[in-house]
Parts: sequence; structure tokens; C-alpha cells
Amino acid sequence: MNIMILGSGGREYSIGRMLEKDEAVAKLYFAPGNGATSRLGENLSIKDYDELAQFALDNSIDLTIVGPEAPLVDGVVNIFKAKGLTIFGPSKEAARLEGSKVYMKNFLAKYNIPTARYIETDHIETAFKFIETLPVPVVVKADGLCAGKGVIIAMNHDEAKKAVSEMLSGKSFGDAGKNVIVEEFLDGYELSMFAICDGKDYILLPAAQDHKRLLDGDEGPNTGGMGAYAPTPLVDDTLYQKVKDRIIRPTLDGMQAEGAPFEGVLFIGIMVVNGEPITLEFNVRFGDPECEILMPLMQTPASELFYKAATSQLDSLHVSFSKQFAVGVVMASRDYPCKGSTPAEIVVDDIVHDEIAQNTHIAYAGVSEEEGILYATGGRILVCIGLGDSIKEARDRAYLLCGQVHFSGKKLRTDIAYQAL
Ligand code: AMP
Ligand code: GLY
Repeated sequence: MNIMILGSGGREYSIGRMLEKDEAVAKLYFAPGNGATSRLGENLSIKDYDELAQFALDNSIDLTIVGPEAPLVDGVVNIFKAKGLTIFGPSKEAARLEGSKVYMKNFLAKYNIPTARYIETDHIETAFKFIETLPVPVVVKADGLCAGKGVIIAMNHDEAKKAVSEMLSGKSFGDAGKNVIVEEFLDGYELSMFAICDGKDYILLPAAQDHKRLLDGDEGPNTGGMGAYAPTPLVDDTLYQKVKDRIIRPTLDGMQAEGAPFEGVLFIGIMVVNGEPITLEFNVRFGDPECEILMPLMQTPASELFYKAATSQLDSLHVSFSKQFAVGVVMASRDYPCKGSTPAEIVVDDIVHDEIAQNTHIAYAGVSEEEGILYATGGRILVCIGLGDSIKEARDRAYLLCGQVHFSGKKLRTDIAYQAL
């Protein structure tokens, strides 16, 4: 099989890493990939989706896997499918579950899927009135894609009103904020759950926890994620079953009824409140860094899983997962989450201890390559992943690996997986 992966992050690297080890895979391409994916396959500099689809036709690509949300929301899947290509990811219509929070919330309400009480509006007075009825904090969300920054947790009513005004005026997020969601604050613990879907069937992966804040103790600004671990002991069989029955099944059935069957990764952001799972949001792709820790737990060949998902054959697939735990610690550049670091050489010391070497690896993200040397180019640079028979063992190994990786300005959290220990 020839496979193409769209994207350039650690998420795409980690999918590629699994496929590179997969006997069924002949050739791997990344578009655009990063400085380290070129070690797993060939990087392509084609950006235009029509040109990418033509490349896939010309080079007998059997399967394309889409990593990030932007090409999905833009409709890359529709473009590929129109040319008869096999591609794993939701259509433009189904990707609205992430592309528009208003669409997502209205969908949840229509199909009685648990979510925070809310209104959607483009009318300032309506928003203000609803804010007055809510206890504090109040959550205000911009409708469109805002690179993870479109959610404001306002500590009082005035702050919530200010956030609404700035969104509706276009000041804070441009057109993405022309519609807003105002919703009640949910107090509980957060989970990330991932279902690989083929439109009607799905495979649920072990539940993960992300660490969105930049600093230890969940302090500092929000980021794309500074580390993750899975499976989390905070989920038992009862909770998995509730998520399946109350969220995933009605979502797949509902999307079919809407004429937009959901194929791809359904990423469910969940808040567990008094033992009940409430949907915070959907994303239509793998989380990053969650993907980096879930991929190594998968024992079924990745090519088979993604191909069957892309061709509506999940009902004939049995997926097995490793009994191990995985912990991933993100190393970011000095200026993350603001961009603009100068490139810094990455040095990884040899790991001489076999057990550590066999149970750790790096997923590379913000890196470039020159003459065999990798350089940190800014943002999230890489993820150090540790596997183990307990979360503690996996975490100790991940941090041991972190100690072997050096680049100027490296920044990391020291408390990943603290919730589980
Ligand atoms: P979202 O992009 O909707 O997932 O929101 C980003 C983050 O904001 C979530 O991961 C939560 O930590 C937080 N958040 C969003 N909505 C709520 C809510 N209704 N109650 C509490 N926290 C929330
Ligand atoms: N780690 C969260 C995300 O990918 O959105």
C-alpha cells in the first residue's frame, strides 16, 4: 500500500511512524511533513488540494490520511473522493462538527446529546440577558476556528459581556466571532476520547487526558497541549458505556440522518460532572499530543485500521490494544505559545539502558533538517513518549528520555499525568 499523510506535526509523525513499521506499507508520503518525517517517507511541498489529489492518482496512492482540521473544514476529503480516491477523514459537511461551534451545539441539542446549557446568538442584548441568568464563571465561545483560542472562561458577568462584545464586533476573532455561544460552566474533570468512525461503525480508543496549560499545576496560558497520557484510570467500564450510548452512537446516527455521515476521527472533549459525561466539544481529527501516545498502544496494523475505516469496513475489524500505559511530554521552544524562536540544534544522547531505549521514543513536530541534523524551529518541537506497565513507569521513562534531549530554550512541564498518580 502507498499512503499519504497530510499535515506536519507530531501527530502526523506518530501516524507515519506506525505505518513505516507496517509490513503492508510500501511507500509513505507526507504533505508537507516536517524535518523528521523525511526519515520515514518522502515529504511533498504541494499545497493545493487539487494538485495533491492529482499526485495521489499519478502515484498510485491507496490511502490518504488527513491530520489537521483546516484541510478537512476546507473540504479536502470531498475533492479526493470526487476523483475516486480513498481518504480517511470527514467530508466538509461532517467537519462542521469542529468548524462551527454553533453547528455542533445545535446538533447536540437536536439529538439530545448531553452538553452544557447554552444559547447561540449574533445579538448582543440576547447574549447579555442570558449571561445575567448564569452563575459565574461563564463560558463564551466564538463560532469558527480560532486555533484553540476561541474560548473565554469569564470570571464575572462584566468580563463575559466584554468577551461577547469583542467577538461580535469582529475585534477578537474576525469573522469566526460573528456568532457566539454563551454557556454554563461545567465543573468536573476533562477527558479526551477518540472514536475511529466509518460513517456507521466505530472503534473507541483508550481514554486520554491532555494538559492544555503551559505551566505545571495547570497554570499559565492555554496551548495546543503540553503532554498527555492514556489510558486514564479515571474512566471505568460504566463511563465508557455511557460515552458510547449517550454520545458516540447518537452522534453517528444523527450525522447519518443529517446526510453527513461521519467518517474519520471523532475527538470528543468530555467533562465528567458527578460521574456523568457531558460533551464539551467535538473535533474531527486526532488530538495532538494525544495521537502520539495512542498510536503506540495500537496493536492492530495502522494501515488496516485506517483503510478499513476509510472504506466502511470497521464492522469486520477487531482492534486490539496493548496492556501498557503511554505518557507523552511535549518539549516546546522558549517562546511557545507565541511563535518566532531562532532555530536551535537538537541533540539526543544515546540511551544505553536497553529497557529504557525499547520503551521510549520521540515524535517530532516543529523541526527542520539540514545535513542530517535536526533543528528546533519553534512552537511544539517534539514529544518524548514513555511506555510502561503502570502510568508511573511510563512517566518515569518519558522523563528519562526528556533528560537526554537538548536544544537551546527547551521548555516542558514536569507534572504530566499528575491527575493519575
Ligand atoms: P473547547 O475548545 O470548547 O474544548 O474549549 C477549550 C477548553 O475550555 C476546554 O478544553 C475546557 O477546558 C474549557 N471549557 C470549554 N467549555 C467549558 C465549559 N462549558 N465549562 C468548563 N470548561 C469549559
Ligand atoms: N490536544 C488538544 C488538541 O489537539 O486539540
